[in-house]
Amino acid sequence: MIVIGSDHGGFALKEEIKKHLEAREIAYTDVGCYDSNSVDYPDIAKAACEKIISGECDKGLLFCGTGVGISIAANKMKGIRACCCSDPYSAKLTRMHNNANVLCMGGRVVSAGLAEMMVDLFLDTEFEGGRHQRRIDKITAIENEQ
Ligand code: RB5
Repeated sequence: MIVIGSDHGGFALKEEIKKHLEAREIAYTDVGCYDSNSVDYPDIAKAACEKIISGECDKGLLFCGTGVGISIAANKMKGIRACCCSDPYSAKLTRMHNNANVLCMGGRVVSAGLAEMMVDLFLDTEFEGGRHQRRIDKITAIENEQ
């Protein structure tokens, strides 16, 4: 199960990506927003990431105007590794090397076609483990020191 969410700046792109997930028969839950009225992206990041932390969802796709604000908010939550991407290489490598569990994109930055490509790479690529696990463990240790 994938959790998906956006603020108003990412709303249109979120709706496009929902259609893409439906075409691929990938189940998702949408934590909002549900129209283009202004909302605050930290509220959406929190609602979405709680579903990953609880185990209800495996991965998240989050959108705001740039993808940056919502990724900063998501990364404040324990166990969340959110990557703001605008290129397919990073969307793939953040799974292989960072074991990212949230992909963030900017509705005012990337086209729907590019976002679909990044979503596919993000959802279909496995974490490589090995030396990368040691680095993830160090990220977790930093998180636990706070
Ligand atoms: C909202 O106008 C905008 O600031 C937000 O969507 C996002 O781009 C923040 O990083």
